[in-house]
Parts: sequence; C-alpha cells; structure tokens
Amino acid sequence: MSVIYQDLHQFSTYIPPINLTFHQYLLLTNEPILFHTGNVQQATEMVPKLKSILGDNNLNYIFVSHFEADECGGLSYLLEHFPQAIPICPEVTARQLTGFGLVQEFISKKPGEKLTTESYDLEFFSYPSEMHLWEGLLVLEKRRGIFFSSDLMIRFGEANNAILESNWETEIDDISKEQVPDQERRIKLQQTLKQLNPNFVATGHGPCLKV
Ligand SMILES: [Fe+2]
Ligand SMILES: [Fe+2]
Repeated sequence: MSVIYQDLHQFSTYIPPINLTFHQYLLLTNEPILFHTGNVQQATEMVPKLKSILGDNNLNYIFVSHFEADECGGLSYLLEHFPQAIPICPEVTARQLTGFGLVQEFISKKPGEKLTTESYDLEFFSYPSEMHLWEGLLVLEKRRGIFFSSDLMIRFGEANNAILESNWETEIDDISKEQVPDQERRIKLQQTLKQLNPNFVATGHGPCLKV
C-alpha cells in the first residue's frame, strides 16, 4: 500500500551504498500532482505504479523543488508517459530545464505565490538550498497541512512507508549550515517556516514526520 497520509501516496527507493531513501509523492485528487520525479531509474520504476493508481486520469502537475537528479532527473521520462503534465518549479530551475531542452511548457513560481485548485491549496516558500544557493522552492498544501520539505528535515536509513513522531520547531532548529550555508538566508528561512503549522512533513529522504 503506497498511501502514507490521507490521499498522499509515497513511492520509495532505498540506496544501500549511501544509506539513503528517496521519495516521490502523488497527491491523488481530481487534479493529481506529483512531487519530485526521482532520477531516471526511479521514475522508470514509478511510472507503472502511477499508471495503475491514476487509471484513466491524467497527471496534471509535477512539482520540482530544485534542479537536481532526484528531484527532476526523471522529468523527460515522465513527460513521455504523461505528456499533459505541467512542471511547476522555481524560476532558476525552469531556466535549467528549458536550457537543457528538457521541458517546453512549465509554470514557474516565486516564493509567496500560490496555486489553488478544487482539491488543494499550495503555497510556495523560498528554499535557498545548498545547490550553489540556487533558489529552490518548498511547498505547503494548506487544506491537509502537508509540508513538502525536499532535502530539509531528512534522515539516513531505510524509510519506506516510515513515519516518525517529531516536533516542528525542533525540525526547523535542526536545519544546518551544510544544508543552507548562507546564514542570513538560513535564519530567514527558519523564521518563515516557524509561522507555518503543518500536520505532516513529506520528506524527500528518510521517514515522514507527524508534527
Ligand atoms: Fe536535492
Ligand atoms: Fe533530494
């Protein structure tokens, strides 16, 4: 069973040499949206599962937090199978994806912007990630209180379908300088996140968190 929280499905791959689990998520609604593509290999394994869950329904959106293989390496492969799906990504990522010829159509979002549909309310936040401090995005789904933390709030180990009880404030305080090296931007990020009140953290790696 891939359901991890309400109508959120999780797809996971554990990579033993680096002791890290990689997750992608499908919010199964009238406007299905996928969070992270996984790398090509992970996307190849995920597509048949997605097709069996979605049935005749389209995949509407694919959210990409930042330009890195596990977040968008499988994008071309996914778009071959779901050509109607529109990638949603930060502006810098959109530049990379179009520059490499990986996408033609996309929606780029700035921090503070939203995407509201019949089934969910997404709000996007700045993610100054360690990838050259390129501007990435984090996203909160406000109706269910699901925060997609990308490479933040992660843990090592095998974590397929795993949920950990945790504390939102502690998770924010634990964001390290290795993850966001620019101190000013790290503090600003922590201040922004502390204003939020999610129920569930869908991590990119490691157990999900009940907060
Ligand atoms: Fe990443
Ligand atoms: Fe990641």
